[in-house]
Parts: sequence; C-alpha cells; structure tokens
Amino acid sequence: MRNTMQPLHPIGIFDSGYGGLTVMKEILKELPDYDYLYLGDNARAPYGPRSFESVYHYTVEAVRWFFDRGSHLVILACNTASSKALRTIQQKDLPRIDPARRVLGVLRPVTEQAGSYTKTGHIGILGTVGTVESQSYPIEIQKFFPDITVTQEACPLWVPLVENCEHESPGADYFIKKHIDNLLRKDPEIDALILGCTHYPLLINKIRRFLPPSVQIISQGTLVARSLADYLERHREIMAQCSKSGIYKYCTTDSAEVFDSQARIFMDETTRSDRVTLP
Ligand code: DGL
Repeated sequence: MRNTMQPLHPIGIFDSGYGGLTVMKEILKELPDYDYLYLGDNARAPYGPRSFESVYHYTVEAVRWFFDRGSHLVILACNTASSKALRTIQQKDLPRIDPARRVLGVLRPVTEQAGSYTKTGHIGILGTVGTVESQSYPIEIQKFFPDITVTQEACPLWVPLVENCEHESPGADYFIKKHIDNLLRKDPEIDALILGCTHYPLLINKIRRFLPPSVQIISQGTLVARSLADYLERHREIMAQCSKSGIYKYCTTDSAEVFDSQARIFMDETTRSDRVTLP
C-alpha cells in the first residue's frame, strides 16, 4: 500500500468505478515504479447503460480532473468510456485543453493483437450494452484485420453480479451460460474471445467452464499493461513527464469506505481512498 502521499505527475487511471482496478493490477505488475492516481466515478457508475453524451461528458470531466492534478498521461481503463468517449477526447478536446498530454484507452492494445489469437478468423466480444452498441470493437478490429468476422454479445447483468459479490455463486452460472450460448449460437466458429469489460476477468473461471476448450480467452489487462510499457519506451517525451516514486493513490466520487472494501474484490493492493468531487 503506497498510497499516502500526493504523487507529483502520476499516470492517471480512470474507470466508472472499481473495474479499472483489474487493469491497474496488471499495469502495476508491469510498471511498478511509476506514480499512479486512480479515479473511480462510483457516484455515477455504471456507465454501461448510459448514453453516449453522458459517458463522454463524465469522461471529459475526469480527464480534466487528472490534468489538474499533474497527470500528463491518462488511461481510460474502462471499456465503455474508451468506446464512447476516447476518440472525441483525442480528436476534439485534447488539442484544445493541452496538445502535449495524452489520453489512451483499453481497446487498441487488444484489437491490434486480436488477429494473432484466431485460426478460424472468427472473434467474439463480450461487453456492456454501451460498448457493444458503440460498435467500437468491430470497427477497430476491422482496421487491423479486415478479413476477421467479429460477433458481439452484451451481458448487462455480469457487472452487477460482480459488484454484489455473486460472481462465484451458483446463481451466476445461469447468466454466464446464457450469454456464452447466445454468442456461440450467433457464430459457432468463434475460437478467440475478448472480455471487453473490466469486470469480466473476475468471472473467468465460470466463463471457461461454459466455453468449448477450443476457444481462447484474450486477457485485456495483460495486453494493456504491455502496450503501456511499449508506448512509454516509444514516447520518451511522455515518459519524461511521468513521475517515478512508486506512489499509488486512489480516489472515488462516492464513499471512500465502500470503495476500499469493494476494491478488495478487484485487486490485491489495500487501498485507502479519498472521496473527491467532479468536475
Ligand atoms: N468499467 C466498465 C467497462 O469496462 C464496466 C462497468 C460499467 O458499466 O460502468 O465497460
């Protein structure tokens, strides 16, 4: 737990709530020496069912919040925010706010590698309603692999299952199986599966149980962490703007007490978070 002081120029990690902690956990394994500032917008979570406008508006507020706290690099560790807000922020907002700062998402590291995981050329995506409706995954995968067939399935109850600690209960089986079956019914040739939501790694054992063994699960957190390390190596000017004291700080827009107790489901670090207000 290295989260007591205020980091200088932390890498910002943003999520609608707790889910981004599954991504942060992998980033900390790969790049432990940087300073990190995590923000969960728990007061307005979940983002999955929200409109494009709301997700975009909330995410811009968060990005500005990180910039005000010294972050030069912000990772949107939320698939819904990455799907619905990232492109507009990169193209429209950043040039206006500060062209020298960077905001990255969690889709690109997965989509640019997706082709190497499939032999049949058929990939499945599981995500929130917002992520699936945005079509961001199919659009991004088509850019790198135009011949790959991408099929999606929204799993609206999976996030509440995790957040209510029911993800390991027998009751969860019904909803896990239902969506896996739906996806494979739409495309039986799928042999690679992207868990396009920060919460789904916590369901991985049950997901595996209902998937044919021939289907490989693509682990988003690991790919995002590796891609961040690679990005920093290739962009030394951004790397130089990220402080390295190994301080990790956690903030939430809702109860800090509840955040710290729920965070244990998502990562091994003990958090001592602060409540903050956006904007
Ligand atoms: N973090 C969100 C995602 O990865 C899931 C939770 C939510 O719907 O806010 O899509």
